[in-house]
Amino acid sequence: MTDTNAKKQLPGILRLLIKLFQIILYIQIQIIFIPIAIIGLVDAIYKEMVKSKRLGISFSAIKALQYRWLMHYFNTRPDSLSVSFTKIFPCESHFGMWSIMGALIISQRIFGFTTRLGKLVEPGKETGDSTAGIRVLMFDRIMEKYVDEMEQIVLPGAGFDLIALHFTKGKNVKVFELDQVNTLNVKVETLKKAGIKHDWITYIPVDYSNESWVDKLLEAGFDKTKKTLFLWQSVSLYLGADIVKETLRKMADLCVDGSIITQDFYSRAFASGEYSKMAKRYLSIIEKMGEPSKFGIDMSNDPKAAVESFLKECGLIMTEYIQFGEKLDIEPFYCIVEAEKL
Ligand SMILES: C[S@@+](CC[C@H](N)C(=O)[O-])C[C@H]1O[C@@H](n2cnc3c(N)ncnc32)[C@H](O)[C@@H]1O
Repeated sequence: MTDTNAKKQLPGILRLLIKLFQIILYIQIQIIFIPIAIIGLVDAIYKEMVKSKRLGISFSAIKALQYRWLMHYFNTRPDSLSVSFTKIFPCESHFGMWSIMGALIISQRIFGFTTRLGKLVEPGKETGDSTAGIRVLMFDRIMEKYVDEMEQIVLPGAGFDLIALHFTKGKNVKVFELDQVNTLNVKVETLKKAGIKHDWITYIPVDYSNESWVDKLLEAGFDKTKKTLFLWQSVSLYLGADIVKETLRKMADLCVDGSIITQDFYSRAFASGEYSKMAKRYLSIIEKMGEPSKFGIDMSNDPKAAVESFLKECGLIMTEYIQFGEKLDIEPFYCIVEAEKL
């Protein structure tokens, strides 16, 4: 081996040695955490799966909150509100999360040991298993882009997302959040107990089986003449195609010129669990908790055209389209779109 070759290889070898050293240190910390992690895991499973079922709360919304908690501690998206919320929230265990993730969090903070959880993929290089974090950031950017120009913001199926609290505090905009009765009532109770100010947001619990969300929204003071941003994140996957279409048509009816509807779509292959083993496992847990994934768009051919045409059927014209995994040679599985009334 020549000197030059040896030099070229040195950083690689050094990197490997550092990684090895980090893994050894991480294992030591993880061993210390094992007894607490066992107790924490039991507490977390009990709260997330047993208690949430008893209280009739959306499990998929709990999972979304959990990811935001992780992003905060892994430094990919600061979110102290979600952490304060989780500490009081009856269906998640802050202690459990710390006991399970603590060794990784400490290892990342003290000596830079990073796993997939501590990294965000570069835009366009998302895979089916690495969309969770970057998707949250993209919706943050959309909210940031429109918050000052809109007069109203509506979040149907808001779950335990605190994006509206982050971006609309002190802004001259009316905000409405809608979700199922139990989910939204627990959200408001938790915000109160956690001392998180939320009085500028109107929370509208809706029983979708016998109430119209549009009527409830109008009763709560929504003004059809005002420019509105509808932000519908991670909801359509769990609804039937007819309900997705009907909901989007109703949103379109409520829009005046300049209003925007933003949402995400999964591919049919993703929704049916054919996309990847990891996605299938995740979706099957959510299904067991009462929320089967039902809706996806056929993205196997021309995904952009397929999404555009679906939106057209709902009375909408697509204005922005972000395809995940675009720079990779993989089957399209997810996109985030913005649309306006046709
Ligand atoms: C995966 S969660 C997403 C929550 C939130 N948008 C987020 O990103 O964290 C799906 C949410 O849709 C709500 N949901 C379920 N059925 C719904 C319906 N028919 N219309 C609107 N929202 C619904 C659930 O209660 C749950 O909060």
